[in-house]
Amino acid sequence: MSATPNLASALNHPIFKTISKAASQLNLESYVIGGYVRDYILKRGDAKDIDIVAVGSGIDLANKVADLLPGRTKVSVYKNFGTAMIKSGEIELEFVGARKESYQRDSRKPAVENGTLEDDQNRRDFTINALAISLSDTNYGQLLDPFGGIDDIKNKIIRTPLDPDITYSDDPLRMLRAIRFATQLNFSIERKSLDAITRNAERINIISKERIVDEIHKILAASKPSTGFALLHKTGLLPYIFPELVALEGIEEKEGQKHKDNFWHTLEVVDNIAQTTDNLWLRWAALLHDIGKAPTKRFDKKGGWTFHAHEFVGSKMVYKLFKRLKMPLNEKMKFVQKMVLMSSRPIVLASDVTDSAVRRLVFDAGDYVDDLMTLCEADITTKNPKRFQKYHNNFKKVREKIVEVEERDHVRNFQPPVSGEEIMKTFGLKPSREIGIIKEAIKEAILEGEIPNEYEAAKEFMLKKAAEINLSPIE
Ligand code: CTP
Repeated sequence: MSATPNLASALNHPIFKTISKAASQLNLESYVIGGYVRDYILKRGDAKDIDIVAVGSGIDLANKVADLLPGRTKVSVYKNFGTAMIKSGEIELEFVGARKESYQRDSRKPAVENGTLEDDQNRRDFTINALAISLSDTNYGQLLDPFGGIDDIKNKIIRTPLDPDITYSDDPLRMLRAIRFATQLNFSIERKSLDAITRNAERINIISKERIVDEIHKILAASKPSTGFALLHKTGLLPYIFPELVALEGIEEKEGQKHKDNFWHTLEVVDNIAQTTDNLWLRWAALLHDIGKAPTKRFDKKGGWTFHAHEFVGSKMVYKLFKRLKMPLNEKMKFVQKMVLMSSRPIVLASDVTDSAVRRLVFDAGDYVDDLMTLCEADITTKNPKRFQKYHNNFKKVREKIVEVEERDHVRNFQPPVSGEEIMKTFGLKPSREIGIIKEAIKEAILEGEIPNEYEAAKEFMLKKAAEINLSPIE
């Protein structure tokens, strides 16, 4: 065990003195534990969620703290869990009594007994999360680090306090937490722990989809998400969460022709996009942009490897994947689908940037055209520096053209310059197929650049088009 420094400097916020006073009035020991201590040492900024352990009743301690705080403070009590929560300004305090736990094999719900601080530290997930700072008068600020958590922070290691088979089997969510912390903090997971995750991977099945997705979100939000996905792959967790990604792995060769490994390519794309955007859903789009490639892969002698319509197939798979993972089937999902569906459009365009093709791209992508370009740029993973430069230059041209065409033609959120209403009035029509035909013809003419996106030109075009289908204005 390393020396135990005094960390009173972590307790600058006045709330800690209040907790200390409350605990001493109740004659119990209390400690700050978990993420707050870890993040303080890592200098990740002051965490707003603070976990407090009482050796005794956490609920009693919370009630006493509420009494001591000025004004009326609400205590939310979760009797079943033996926990209580207080909000004080922007701080959220969670109180729990120190406990010993033992878990059943098929559940995350432990049988709980009261315990000492050591018992409580033992049952925590990682040494870096088991660090506690005393709030008791006698040793206020003393760090309690029975498992060498400080050294693990220094050495950037994720390690479990107990035998990892016990820690992960007790709560299999921790397998994902280990990978998530490794990704967020750029730590490595101790060998023994990695092996235990690999052995226990199947137990991820007892974890709710919502919790799994929560961790995936955090991995995707990290600065280098591939670390997490590579670990999910290495430990064998990936097939339980994203079988679609597993299916992308591997390079096949036929008649001397190879295709790229679309799994590792995808991870590169995700890392690339993490450099240019914090938009979580765009990062999801990067993760899923090629999932249609596994089911559409074909080989023919002439064309070599093809993935026909993989974008369309992939966008359908996005729905199924979101549904399976109990993610919201809302506009976020539609956005990811749209990105996947359109993911090759700017690429096709890059070699021949015509105004009309750009207008169609902007028309179809609408407000998401910039996101789509960001995705396509991230998709450039060639190791050939000449080609890398060339593709980037091409997309730069497409981006410039988008701005130019948009300034002139305003098709981003296209509204027909002549309304259906006006067409009906002009020709004395009731709602009918002809109106659709004329409207579609006007839209096409604008996108093709035959007429500008303006009222007068569109009206003139409407009259011409109507004459072609033997319609004449009523006056
Ligand atoms: N904990 C645990 N096993 C879990 C979840 C949490 O042992 N499956 C313990 C850890 O000691 C953790 C503390 O409970 O530090 C608080 O959990 P939580 O608030 O979920 O995580 P933090 O560590 O605070 O980190 P983050 O906020 O980044 O999730």
